[in-house]
Amino acid sequence: MGTDNYMESSFIRPDIFLQEDEKETGLRPRFLDEFQGQRLIKENLWVFIEAARSRRESLDHLFLIGPPGLGKTTLAQITANELGVDFKVTSAPALDKPKDLAGILTTVTERTVFFIDEIHRLKPAIEEMLYIAMEDYELDWIIGQGPGARTVRIPIPPFTLVGATTKAGMVSSPLISRFGIVQRFGFYDRDELSSIIRRSAGILAVRLEDEAAAFMADCSRGTPRVANRLLRRMRDFAQVLSDGVITCDVVTKGLDKLQIDTLGLERYDREILLSIIQNFGGGPVGAETLAISIGESIDTLEDYYEPYLIQCGLLQRTPRGRMATEKAYRHLGIDGKSNGNERLLF
Ligand SMILES: Nc1ncnc2c1ncn2[C@@H]1O[C@H](COP(=O)(O)OP(=O)(O)O)[C@@H](O)[C@H]1O
Ligand SMILES: [Mg+2]
Repeated sequence: MGTDNYMESSFIRPDIFLQEDEKETGLRPRFLDEFQGQRLIKENLWVFIEAARSRRESLDHLFLIGPPGLGKTTLAQITANELGVDFKVTSAPALDKPKDLAGILTTVTERTVFFIDEIHRLKPAIEEMLYIAMEDYELDWIIGQGPGARTVRIPIPPFTLVGATTKAGMVSSPLISRFGIVQRFGFYDRDELSSIIRRSAGILAVRLEDEAAAFMADCSRGTPRVANRLLRRMRDFAQVLSDGVITCDVVTKGLDKLQIDTLGLERYDREILLSIIQNFGGGPVGAETLAISIGESIDTLEDYYEPYLIQCGLLQRTPRGRMATEKAYRHLGIDGKSNGNERLLF
């Protein structure tokens, strides 16, 4: 007897819906007016949300691009909150088989916001299924098995797919073209990060001097997640080593203990630059070789470390590989490129 292949999908693997990092839940803005910075994205999205809401239609599919920690997941959740609809979350690596995606899509209700993180990692068969779901709001449903199997298309309610990626270049163009709204995140400036830090300090009920907030903002890699993490660590230092108030003095000492420098660079950032300079004569060196030389994965190197190093003007991506800039030599206190080259003699 033929069985419905997707019947098992009425049991949805628990790991398909991602759990929130508990530490981040409390600090995550819930509505657009709490979301700092990214002014253009916010203004546009507000218009599209208002328009969809007043027409009682599902919002067009939304594609969010940017390095980790800049607020992609947050904005997806905010979109659902602002629309007043259900929110479902998964990530591409959690979707192993088409039935995993089918399982989620069958739980989608009218206008649901369905968020797929790391969408550049979708498997081709799942991507195919997603095309039809996005475009026609239909699902290919396989009935039966073996030679008797056949596909029927079942309708699903109009929903909004929000796809997020750190690597837009790895998303296929047929997929990108199915998103009606595409938004690219940039790093946050000092004022925006300061106000994120002050808002979070309020929620965590920790006292914080304004100058200390600005100081921390400068060392947060332009990234709200890093800013919040730094705040939590400084709260610990202030509590244990001082009287609980985060002052510039506490931040100076805390940053030193965490080995974070004045540009917000962490140990690995400096190791990346040092490796380029000392092992590869300042570059160019291929990303893979570089990742191996510092013992990190190429994904972490490309997604987390490089964007900020490039933003700081310390690293250049060229067709032939990565290069350290003059500013990198200066920042590390190594003079001139010739010096770096001399170290190459081994
Ligand atoms: N614009 C923002 N305003 C305030 N806090 C933010 C903002 N963007 C991100 N955050 C904070 O940073 C954390 C990381 O954001 P997240 O949305 O998870 O980033 P991404 O999904 O891009 O990796 C969130 O928990 C949230 O507290
Ligand atoms: Mg995210």
